[in-house]
Amino acid sequence: MLDLARQAAEVLVERHGRLPREQAWDGEFRGELDERLMEDPPEVGNPASQVLQRAVQDILPLALRLDHPRSFGFVPSAPTWPGVVADFLAAGYNINASNWLIASGATQLECVVIDWFRRWLGFPETAGGLLTSGGSAATVDAFVAAREAAGCPEGPCVYMSDQSHSSQMRAARIIGIRGEHTRLVPTDRLFQMDLGALATMVAEDRAAGLHPIAVCANAGTTATGAVDSLDALADFCAEHGTWLHVDAAYGGFAVLTDRGKRLLRGIGRADSVGIDAHKWLFQPYEAGGLLVRDISTLEKPFNIRPDFLQDALWGKGHPNFWDRGLQLSRSVRALKIWMSVQTFGMAAFRRAIAKGLDLAARAEEYIQASPVLECLSPASLSVVCFRINPAGRELADETLDEINRSVLARLFWEDPAFVSSAVLAGRFALRLCIVNHNTEWDDVRETLEAAERFGKAVSGAA
Ligand SMILES: Cc1ncc(COP(=O)(O)O)c(C=O)c1O
Repeated sequence: MLDLARQAAEVLVERHGRLPREQAWDGEFRGELDERLMEDPPEVGNPASQVLQRAVQDILPLALRLDHPRSFGFVPSAPTWPGVVADFLAAGYNINASNWLIASGATQLECVVIDWFRRWLGFPETAGGLLTSGGSAATVDAFVAAREAAGCPEGPCVYMSDQSHSSQMRAARIIGIRGEHTRLVPTDRLFQMDLGALATMVAEDRAAGLHPIAVCANAGTTATGAVDSLDALADFCAEHGTWLHVDAAYGGFAVLTDRGKRLLRGIGRADSVGIDAHKWLFQPYEAGGLLVRDISTLEKPFNIRPDFLQDALWGKGHPNFWDRGLQLSRSVRALKIWMSVQTFGMAAFRRAIAKGLDLAARAEEYIQASPVLECLSPASLSVVCFRINPAGRELADETLDEINRSVLARLFWEDPAFVSSAVLAGRFALRLCIVNHNTEWDDVRETLEAAERFGKAVSGAA
């Protein structure tokens, strides 16, 4: 047991040391992987270290290294080592954090971590929540609570912006909202929800006999990091008696910094907030969270008590997390968050989050000053979007889209960084999302320089 665990730990520590010198991405096509891996399970086992070596050589490297200092695509994830070790411990102890009887320590720890989140978000003491697999599951649970709070009406509809994450739409589908009743509210030039358009849609739907059950605001869209006007949306929802859910999966932990707190003003007025510790709180997957303003709104729809689970009822003050969401058997997600925070302290977390904000602002300055780059969306939280658009060339949008697609491909194949794209107001954009505590300005600068270099080469030829 120890030999295998030591080998695994050594592999991970070595990988960590090598990471900055490697490409951020590696992968393979299906045909090749079928040949390597598609086989019957062995009848007789193999030596454990040999199996580990095979995993380490043939399987695990074939992935986007989300924790690479130059991994800027989508929303990266750079877990701390205590968080990784916590997941190993949690698996080793094999605790099922579903109820107090079978996991009092883990359940208490989840209460502690959820209470930290509650205070960070500025929620009242009536609030509570649970840790989930991620933002997607958090939204499903939140929409179930919203529907219940609205009295489970016929013809329910939800509202979100045209920038909202696909997981919000999927959550609406999962809870049975018809496609045409998931209303996508247009956004303004800063990609924030147009509140006038929202008001019109809600009024139209009410007049048509439908029932708005939730407005879903963004606290950091994936494409541009845009934050909707949370205070104004809280006012709107209070006036209309509608649940306000905030998708803070990516941006939520910015509240730990003064700047982030200002940007996310009003988040504490929501009825529910989804927030992912596997994004900007530096935890390994899966570490999502859902907070609701009034914990009874979550426990009412999810609390089902069959006789065969009656032994697990310990009474008031002893929550069973299976009563708060869709999962019954659950791993001890709180342990990784707790061990990381205990090890590094909150000051280190604040500094690491502020660094993401700083680097994105600096990237924007660089882009604004570049004769080759055009800023398509200024730094918002830690996302900045841009494109190659050489000054004085007056190229059409279609030509620029083509140039930028080629630059993205060249970055992908020829540069160590991993950058992803977005489409903003119909224009193809390159996008950086900076949430890694190990990323330094040189990582960002050299990636922008590579984009400029490829941009010059490609647009010169275009
Ligand atoms: C803004 C936003 N919301 C929701 C999600 C979905 O979260 P998860 O992948 O943890 O389910 C993401 C994922 O990147 C996201 O960026």
